[in-house]
Amino acid sequence: MPQPPVSPSALDAALRRRSIRRYTSAPVPDDTLTALLAAMARAPSASNTQPWRVVVVRDPARKQALQEAADNQPQVGGAPVVLALYTDMEDVVAHLDEVVHPDLAPERRAATMASLTRTFGAMTVAERAAWGQAQTGIALGYLLLCAEALGLGTSPMLGFDAARVRALLEIPAHASVNALVALGVPAEPGFRPHRHPLNRIVSWR
Ligand SMILES: Cc1cc2nc3c(=O)[nH]c(=O)nc-3n(C[C@H](O)[C@H](O)[C@H](O)COP(=O)(O)O)c2cc1C
Repeated sequence: MPQPPVSPSALDAALRRRSIRRYTSAPVPDDTLTALLAAMARAPSASNTQPWRVVVVRDPARKQALQEAADNQPQVGGAPVVLALYTDMEDVVAHLDEVVHPDLAPERRAATMASLTRTFGAMTVAERAAWGQAQTGIALGYLLLCAEALGLGTSPMLGFDAARVRALLEIPAHASVNALVALGVPAEPGFRPHRHPLNRIVSWR
């Protein structure tokens, strides 16, 4: 099968991206937001479970309430859009037919669904949530990189009261909130990157 040409844009976006905590008032158009979410949704996940779910928050009053539930971090109220990225493995388990590939032969689909039912059935709700959160972390990475590629800044956040965020956004109680992500046109450059040198994190054998 012919491969698309190698594009440096993912590399560029990875090297350019920084957390942005101040935004201009420029709105994020619906089609840009949709393109971003569609790219995020292409993230890979174990057994293609795709346990990530997203709430898009643009209403100023809701953003303000969210900011109060997020340690009063100003980028929550100050960004034109805030995304709440959460994991709902109970929804996945209830709809396994949606995630098993339709191109598989019927017997193979049935066997895959039975195997997933056994695997997830042997876990507690909390264990399933932790398993799913690892998958949603991949989607978070896609989201941050693709936003950068679209010229948008992001501020991923874990500093929030999960119970308050769930209540404010009507997220199911069993779901785990992976991150809030402020999104918009940057009004600051962000901090210069500070990362481990490769020889601190990579071993060659
Ligand atoms: C999952 C996650 C949670 C984070 N939580 C917060 C947060 O609550 N508040 C904040 O200001 N930054 C938060 N950050 C941003 C990190 O501090 C930042 O990514 C890191 O210092 C590297 O800087 P950079 O993103 O500019 O490259 C978070 C980042 C990630 C990936």
